[in-house]
Amino acid sequence: MTETALFKSFSLITGLFVSVENRDKLWALRSEGEKIMGLITGLGTIVYSPEKSNFGRNVQIGKRCKIHFPVWFGDNVVIGNDCKIQAFTFIPEGVIIEDNVFIGPHVCFTNDKHPPSQGKSWGKTIVRRGAVIGANASILPGIEIGENATIGAGSVITKNIEANRTVAGNPAKELLAG
Ligand SMILES: CC(C)(COP(=O)(O)OP(=O)(O)OC[C@H]1O[C@@H](n2cnc3c(N)ncnc32)[C@H](O)[C@@H]1OP(=O)(O)O)[C@@H](O)C(=O)NCCC(=O)NCCS
Repeated sequence: MTETALFKSFSLITGLFVSVENRDKLWALRSEGEKIMGLITGLGTIVYSPEKSNFGRNVQIGKRCKIHFPVWFGDNVVIGNDCKIQAFTFIPEGVIIEDNVFIGPHVCFTNDKHPPSQGKSWGKTIVRRGAVIGANASILPGIEIGENATIGAGSVITKNIEANRTVAGNPAKELLAG
């Protein structure tokens, strides 16, 4: 038995997690719960217990990602390859995450600067490749987090963060080395 077949058998037996490997597999999974309908993932991605999370319409997740549970993804969220997203993360519509991004537990993205604006003041947020976002960070709408930037645990991000910077606090400020 191949490693993949073993993994699938284990998943089916335990019911603990499901590997969503491609679009065909996704269709096979549809009978397990409507919540994962529309979720498009690349090869090697693992979505742990998708039935315990919320995935909006047209959510796209790249290859080799790990998505823990529960998470809340709104419509049209895009996640690149090799990303790790920890439990209790909230990612609403308008957020794009590039490749190799780490998102710690309880990270909260937002899209409505002056709620409830019913879409009128929604901003688009992009997290560039290699960025790390610490636990419990909150990201205000319309933010760009630069390549390989690090966001400290508990930070509130109110402005764009340049590439390779480490920031922390509320509002987040750059942590200077030394
Ligand atoms: C931001 C971070 C990467 C900085 O690590 P570091 O470079 O080793 O920084 P240090 O621990 O040397 O701290 C430097 C200063 O920044 C402060 N600081 C560090 N992290 C902070 C944070 N998240 N919020 C506020 N201040 C922070 C420290 O208190 C220290 O201040 P001081 O110089 O006045 O004493 C790290 O603290 C962090 O938050 N990591 C994320 C952890 C996480 O959420 N992991 C998720 C997976 S479980």
